[in-house]
Amino acid sequence: MKRIVPFLVAIGLIILGFRITQQDDGHDPVDIASLARQQAQRETQVELKTLTEKKDLALLAEKGLGQALPGYLVTEVHASGKFWVVANPKIEMGVEIPFAPGQLPRPKIDSGSLENPEGFLGAAACQSCHADKYETFVETAHHRTSRIASVKEISGPLAQGRNVMQTSHPEVNFEMLQRGNVGYQRVSFFDWQFEVPMQLIMGSSKMAETYLFWHGDKLFQANCSYLEGPDAWINSPGYLDGDAAYARPILSGCLDCHTTYAELEQEPNRYSPKSMILGISCERCHGPGKDHVDFHLAHPLEKQSKHMIVPSNLSREREMDVCGQCHTGDKAPKSPEAFQFRPGDRLSDHYDPLEGHDESANSVHTSNQIARLALSRCFQESEMACVQCHDPHKNERGMTAIFSERCLKCHQEEHCGMQETLGPKLKDNCVDCHMPKRATENLRVETMAGQVFPPLRDHLIRVDLEATKAYLDQRNEDSN
Ligand code: HEC
Ligand code: HEC
Ligand code: HEC
Ligand code: HEC
Ligand code: HEC
Ligand code: HEC
Ligand code: HEC
Repeated sequence: MKRIVPFLVAIGLIILGFRITQQDDGHDPVDIASLARQQAQRETQVELKTLTEKKDLALLAEKGLGQALPGYLVTEVHASGKFWVVANPKIEMGVEIPFAPGQLPRPKIDSGSLENPEGFLGAAACQSCHADKYETFVETAHHRTSRIASVKEISGPLAQGRNVMQTSHPEVNFEMLQRGNVGYQRVSFFDWQFEVPMQLIMGSSKMAETYLFWHGDKLFQANCSYLEGPDAWINSPGYLDGDAAYARPILSGCLDCHTTYAELEQEPNRYSPKSMILGISCERCHGPGKDHVDFHLAHPLEKQSKHMIVPSNLSREREMDVCGQCHTGDKAPKSPEAFQFRPGDRLSDHYDPLEGHDESANSVHTSNQIARLALSRCFQESEMACVQCHDPHKNERGMTAIFSERCLKCHQEEHCGMQETLGPKLKDNCVDCHMPKRATENLRVETMAGQVFPPLRDHLIRVDLEATKAYLDQRNEDSN
C-alpha cells in the first residue's frame, strides 16, 4: 500500500547529492556561534583520517560528532522548517531528525530555576511528615510514570541478541545499546548510522515505556518504545514501520498527564529542564504543596491541616475532575494552560474538548475511565467515585481479591448469579467477569508482525456473558 510520507514531498525539491551544511537545525535562526561550531566540527571530520575512525560512533561522539552522510543518501530541511529528512531515493522509508545529519543532539541546557511560580515541590517534600503515605506511594504507577533514564531504569533489553528492532526493510534497523550509564538508540539506515540517547522515561512499564531526549532545551520522543506484554522493542504508537522518526516534539499536554510540572519556555516543546518535576506527585491531586509545607514547618504543633485539599471532600463532580485531568482521553489543555488545574476547579476551566475526537484518533491512549464508569449502573445508582475502588497511595495492581472486597462494600455475594457455581471462590475475582480488559483503538502500535492493541481494563461495569465464559474456561484450563 502506498503511504503518504511527508518527506517524499521534500525529496522532490532536493538536488541530488546537495547537502545543506550552512543551516542550523529546525526553526533556530542561523547565528554566528553555531556557524563557528559547525565549521569546527567539519574541520574535525577532516582530521579523522582512517575509515574506522569515521565509522566508530563512540569515538565520533567523544569528539562531539556524528557519522557523515554518504553521498547516495539525500537530505534537506523539511518544508515545515522544523526538522531534517534523510532519504534513499530508491525506497519510501526515511529518517526524521531535529539536528543536521552528521551532528548529534545538542546537550541539555540547564537554564531556569528549581523553584517554580506555582509552588509545586514534588513528593519527596511530603516524606518527612507523611512517611506512611510516601513509602507506599513511591511504588505506584503515578510516581514512576516519568523518571530519569539511567540504564538500570530502562526495562527494554539492551543485551545483545534481544536489543534489535528490525523493520520490514533489511537495510533499516534499530539497535538499543548502552555506554556507561547511558542507553542509546542506534539507527542503521543503509550503511549510515546515527545515535540518539535515551534521557527520560515515560511510562511506569506496567504496560510500556517510551523514551525522550533533549536537543538543547527542546524535548523529543525517540522512535523505539518498549512493550511489556511481548517483552519487545516496538515503534512508538503512531509511528510507521521502517521510518526512523526522531523529530516528534513532546507537547506540554503530554507532560501535563505524565509529570508533576514543567515550565514551557516556548511552544511547542522548549522547556526549562531544571524546572521539571518528574513523576505525578501528591500535589496533582492535593494542590501545590509550598504553602502547606511552609505553614506546618513554621507551626510544628498545629494538628489542623492548612492549605491542602482532599479530593473526597469536594462534590463528586469536582472530585472526578481531579482524576479527569488525565483519565479522559478527549480533551487538551487550553494553551498555555497545562499545569494550571487545581483540585476544586472545573475541568472545562482549563481544558477544551478535542473536536471530532473518536476512538480511532490515535492521540491519547487511555481507555477514558471516567466516561466508561459513568455508563455503569453502579455509578449512576450510588455516590461512587474513583476512590471507592482505588487507593491512590498504594500500588494495588493485579490484586483482584482487594478489588473484590471493594465491590462487596455495596454488593452481596448472593446477588451474583454465579455464586452457586463458584461458591467462596467468587470473591477471588469479580472484575475479570464484570470489568474485562478490552483493546482500544486509541492505543495502537505498529510492529513488523502487524498492529497490536494492548488491552486496558474497561470501566463499564456490567454483566458480560462472553467475559464470564472466558474466565471460566481459563479457570478450567488452570486446574487441569
Ligand atoms: C512539616 C510537616 C508537613 C509536611 C512537610 C507536609 N505536611 Fe501535610 N500535613 C501536615 C499536618 C500536621 C497535617 C494535619 C494532620 C494530618 O492530617 O496528618 C497534614 C495534613 C495533610 C493532608 C490532609 C488534609 C486534610 O484536610 O485532612 C494532606 C492531603 C496533606 N497533608 C498533604 C501533604 C502533601 C501533598 C505534602 C507534600 C507536598 C505535605 N502534606 C507535606 C504536615 C505536613
Ligand atoms: C496528572 C495526571 C494524573 C492524575 C491527576 C491522575 N492520574 Fe492516574 N494515572 C496517570 C497516568 C499517566 C497513569 C499511567 C502511569 C503509567 O503506568 O505510566 C495513571 C495510572 C493510574 C492507575 C493505574 C495504576 C496501575 O498500577 O495500574 C490508576 C488506578 C489511576 N491512575 C487512578 C487515578 C485516580 C483514582 C486518580 C484521581 C484520584 C488519578 N489516577 C489521577 C495520570 C494521572
Ligand atoms: C492520584 C491522586 C492522589 C495522589 C497522587 C495522592 N493522593 Fe492523597 N488522597 C487522594 C484522595 C482521592 C484522597 C481521599 C481518599 C479517601 O477519601 O478515601 C487522599 C487522601 C489523603 C490524605 C488524607 C488522610 C487519609 O489518610 O485519607 C493524606 C494525608 C494524603 N492523601 C496525603 C498524600 C501524600 C503525602 C501523597 C504523596 C506521597 C498523596 N496523598 C498522593 C488522592 C491522591
Ligand atoms: C490525557 C492524558 C494523557 C496524555 C496527554 C498522554 N498520556 Fe500517556 N497515559 C495516560 C494514562 C492515563 C495512561 C495509562 C493508560 C490507562 O490506563 O488509561 C498512559 C499510559 C502511557 C504509557 C504506558 C505506561 C504504562 O506503563 O502503562 C506511555 C508510555 C505513555 N502513556 C506515554 C505518553 C506520551 C509519550 C505522551 C505524549 C506524547 C502521552 N503519554 C500523553 C495519560 C496521558
Ligand atoms: C458504591 C457502591 C458500589 C460499588 C463499590 C460497586 N457497585 Fe455494583 N452496583 C451498585 C449499585 C447501586 C447498582 C445498581 C443496583 C443493584 O443492582 O444493586 C450496581 C449494579 C451492579 C451490577 C449490575 C449491572 C447492570 O448493568 O445490571 C453489577 C454486575 C455490579 N454492580 C458489579 C459490581 C462489581 C463487580 C463491583 C466491583 C468491581 C461493583 N459492582 C462495585 C453499587 C456499587
Ligand atoms: C468499581 C471499582 C472501580 C472504580 C469505581 C474505578 N476503578 Fe479503576 N480499576 C478497577 C479495577 C478492578 C482495575 C483493574 C486493576 C488491576 O487489574 O490491577 C482498575 C484499573 C484502573 C486503571 C488501570 C487500567 C489498566 O488497564 O491498566 C486505571 C487507569 C483506573 N482504573 C482508573 C480509574 C479512574 C480514573 C477511576 C474513576 C473514574 C476508576 N478507575 C474507578 C476498579 C475500579
Ligand atoms: C465467573 C464470572 C463471574 C464472577 C467471578 C462474578 N460474577 Fe457477578 N455475575 C456474573 C454473571 C454471568 C451474572 C448474571 C447472572 C444471571 O443473570 O443469572 C452476574 C450477576 C451479578 C450481579 C447482579 C446483576 C444484576 O442482574 O442486577 C451482581 C451485583 C454481581 N454479579 C456482582 C458480583 C460480585 C460483587 C462479584 C465478586 C464477589 C461477582 N459478581 C463475581 C458473572 C460473574
